Amino acid sequence: MSLAQRRILLGVSGGIAAYKSCELVRRLRDLGAEVRVVMTEGATHFVSATTFQALSGQPVRISLWDAEAEAAMGHIELARWAERILIAPASADLIAQLAHGFANDLLTTVCLASAAPLYVAPAMNQQMWAHAAVQANVDTLRQRGVHLLGPASGDQACGDIGSGRMLEPLELREAIVASFGNAVLRGRKVVVSAGPTYEDIDPVRFIGNRSSGRMGFAVAEAAVQAGAEVTLVAGPVSLATPPGVVRRIDVRSANQMRDAVVAATAHADIYIGAAAVGDYRPAEVADHKIKKRDGAALELSLAENPDILGTLAAQTVRPFLVGFAAETHDVERYARDKLARKGLDMIAANQVGGGLGFEAADNALTLYGPDGAIELPRASKSELARQLVAKIAERYVAVRG
Ligand code: PMT
Repeated sequence: MSLAQRRILLGVSGGIAAYKSCELVRRLRDLGAEVRVVMTEGATHFVSATTFQALSGQPVRISLWDAEAEAAMGHIELARWAERILIAPASADLIAQLAHGFANDLLTTVCLASAAPLYVAPAMNQQMWAHAAVQANVDTLRQRGVHLLGPASGDQACGDIGSGRMLEPLELREAIVASFGNAVLRGRKVVVSAGPTYEDIDPVRFIGNRSSGRMGFAVAEAAVQAGAEVTLVAGPVSLATPPGVVRRIDVRSANQMRDAVVAATAHADIYIGAAAVGDYRPAEVADHKIKKRDGAALELSLAENPDILGTLAAQTVRPFLVGFAAETHDVERYARDKLARKGLDMIAANQVGGGLGFEAADNALTLYGPDGAIELPRASKSELARQLVAKIAERYVAVRG
């Protein structure tokens, strides 16, 4: 079990269980994690910042308005630094603030500004925990993909018995360790492409597609969680870089994506092509905006774009190649055809449309390879990406060692 070099932001809100979070910092650091603590003002009434500072070996942040601390590591930088945010204890008030998207102190602001998975360990009186308002807020968080850890049931500091106790530090640490998977790709270099390509017609128009980049970004994040050193080549998308991605290269056209992917994969072990690369581009790009020709049709002549996966497959030394196939019908036939024709090691096929595939939060995949087909049923793109990366790693290790 290791958390070596993992960056954990521990949020501590106001509750008597804050004393257990001191132990939690020690246990996380025992496994090699870097821990930075952000306390709410309420938390400081239970445990002093000096205690957390001594245990974490890092300055503790409390206020959004601390100019000196902001100059050292601003709150956005802190939000990007974190690979996991764990809030322990999470009071009823903090849970309500998170559920309603408040950003009225440093901890809630960092939570909104971070793309890191959020783990929340509630701790409160059993009557409060059972309250409909608290349960509704917890449901909201769960639906948003926040991971709820506990609470446990038993004797409470207030003398009540029931559900609302914070999980023990070792239980919380176990959940964080599990969240990183078993680092099957540690030491491996993985390049992921994501998003659409835009092929310019003139200075104001382009040919593009509906890819949002969410699937590819989720794959990049899952590969980081599996321990890989990840380079993300992204088409034009408006997504934050997943925490832990070593390098992000933004491109626009298929040609630019090909150049970036070929350069980035020169020393890579695995390439996962989740990008929806345009197959064609206008043969000529007009220098000026093309004017409307009243009544007359406009014809565009299209030239074929390079096939990025095909280019990599043709190299004598090539990374392990995983493609995606987005199809509206005959998914299996087209996917198997691309697997063979493009010379891939594996291909993840998705049927697009009907709330899945492009733009959607969920997806469903069938993974084809020499071993046959593996179904990855409908789930959030993050969850699917974790399963997909685990399967890719299994196959990669089997054939490349
Ligand atoms: O981005 P999202 O909104 O989350 O949507 C996710 C997705 C539907 C875009 C994703 O899951 C997906 O299926 N991506 C691949 C889409 C696609 O372009 O499929 P394709 O069947 O046209 O291409 C097959 C494979 O060849 C892909 O791996 C593609 O990256 C690659 N390709 C395609 C054309 C080209 N010129 N070069 C390539 O390398």
